[in-house]
Amino acid sequence: MCGIIGIASNKPVSINIINSLKKLEYRGYDSAGLATLDNDIINEKKCSGRVEELEKILFKTPSNGNVGIGHVRWATHGIPNVVNAHPHSSEQVSVVHNGIIENSDELKNELESKGIKFKSQTDTEVVTLLITESLKENKPLNSVFKTLKKLKGSFALGIIFKKFPNIIIGARRGSPLAVGYSKKENYIGSDSYALKSMTNKISYLDDGELCVLTKDEVSFFDKNLKKVNKKILTMSENDVSAEKGEYKHFMFKEIVEQPDTVNNCISEYVDSLKKNINILNFPIEPQKINKIVLIGCGTAYNSCLTAKYWFEELTSIDIEIDIASEFRYRKLKFNPNNLYIFVSQSGETADTAAALDLCKKNNVKTCSIVNVIESTIARNSDWVLPIHAGIEIGVASTKAFLGQLTVLYILCLKLAFVRKDIDEITYIKNISNLKKIPDAIKKCLKNENEVQLMAKEFISAKGSMFLGRGSSFPIALEGALKLKELSYLHAEGYPAGEMKHGPLALIEEGLPVIVIAPKDKYFEKTISNMQEVIARGGKILFITDNKKESLNENIRFGFRVPHIDNLLSPILLTLPLQMLAYHVALLKNCDVDKPRNLAKSVTVE
Ligand code: G6P
Repeated sequence: MCGIIGIASNKPVSINIINSLKKLEYRGYDSAGLATLDNDIINEKKCSGRVEELEKILFKTPSNGNVGIGHVRWATHGIPNVVNAHPHSSEQVSVVHNGIIENSDELKNELESKGIKFKSQTDTEVVTLLITESLKENKPLNSVFKTLKKLKGSFALGIIFKKFPNIIIGARRGSPLAVGYSKKENYIGSDSYALKSMTNKISYLDDGELCVLTKDEVSFFDKNLKKVNKKILTMSENDVSAEKGEYKHFMFKEIVEQPDTVNNCISEYVDSLKKNINILNFPIEPQKINKIVLIGCGTAYNSCLTAKYWFEELTSIDIEIDIASEFRYRKLKFNPNNLYIFVSQSGETADTAAALDLCKKNNVKTCSIVNVIESTIARNSDWVLPIHAGIEIGVASTKAFLGQLTVLYILCLKLAFVRKDIDEITYIKNISNLKKIPDAIKKCLKNENEVQLMAKEFISAKGSMFLGRGSSFPIALEGALKLKELSYLHAEGYPAGEMKHGPLALIEEGLPVIVIAPKDKYFEKTISNMQEVIARGGKILFITDNKKESLNENIRFGFRVPHIDNLLSPILLTLPLQMLAYHVALLKNCDVDKPRNLAKSVTVE
């Protein structure tokens, strides 16, 4: 949720720290800071707001020093201001932290009772002060080790020491931490992307591990402080490349990349010659799967909800969907014949990771559908199906959603076929329909100007509603989520048939209501629900794949997506909704790539 970076080098590091922090801003952007070891003192610089502000401060008063740490924050404990910004330093040490120290209040009381004073409201400062105390009797590694034993929660840490100016110590429990290697320079970072411009040689700390880096070497230790060896991975250009290029925003670039996202999944999983899906090694024999439980958060949860309709339609498998933050605390009856599937773009979402841990503790089989294959969720699950969308930077997820839908659809087809729920003709027809999706997405994107017109209807709106039935209901939820995230406008996604049981009271003259009505078995019913909204003054924006339905005077705007088949309509109906949220945000001057109060990778509970 926050981003951390550390560099040990033979040359000044502050500029590279700033460059890495800019890459980490997708993890948090309410304040920023860095600390370097500069002529035997800890030189700390912090600001509230974006990394740009920190850069301005450094421009006026440069920081020297060949060893340093940096941080971008997404506030948990204490408001986002300069004092609460990281690093948190004492006379002896400086600490950057991602995650939450759950017992910080208790530890703070203990330290305060010894007369130790705190400057900030953060949970992180207890780490700084505990290490400082421990350093009176121990060397740095032991001080950190002993401090870690006192901490509860999930976190990644980067620490520098005034009296040991050549080293950085990194530690991981729960939150991710990567290590990078270069000539006369080594790094820690919250992800490999932050290290991208400096190296493509990466290792990952496993849970509970620590590392000590100098400019020349990196040593790793397990949770008992026993030295361990690490594999060094070489990242390909694809793994690390993410530039805005000609686009003004990452989000729009990522929307435009979606034909490639779907194509990548197809070429990864579909054998065109044999007309077959290459998904093998199921952790449970397909015939024996009793139930599939799909779990995720945010947009990933919406992809699970959409897939529910596919599994119900095509397979004989029982299917259940849950929000990870709910699942992890439910009193569940685990069944070894159930397959638990975790869907996550980042693979680091704390709630999803905890839900996965719960399944592992109960000895059931797990699968993850992720974008980041070296992520915690991918590494901890029995079976991984990557979505191959490439790095997604925009905080509001777009291409990862379509990637998740594509992989879920492919998985569903494969299971339906191997379990003999569908015959070969249907299987092949559904595969060939999927192959038409990338071109159909391109057609939708060409009509961006129609969405721009629709967006104007939201400038002075007090709220909005997104309605759909069947598999269009989760798409309504996703459309509403995108609009909320990006333009801070209240938006409700609702099953159209449920409106009369309460939400109809919200409809008033001129309220924008987006009706998602593909030509499926629900079409006529959705149209009736739409009439009920029209009768109460709602302003209808109509999204369909029905060629026959002509727009009438009651429909303010319409957007038609190509029709391929009913099963695949959710994928195409998503496109206008993503573009709509983007354009409303632009008209409202909102920060499209970094919406207020949010972060892309939510590594806290
Ligand atoms: C955050 C992001 C959302 C995302 C959710 C789940 O809230 O802002 O866009 O859908 O986390 O993230 P995941 O990485 O698990 O898909």
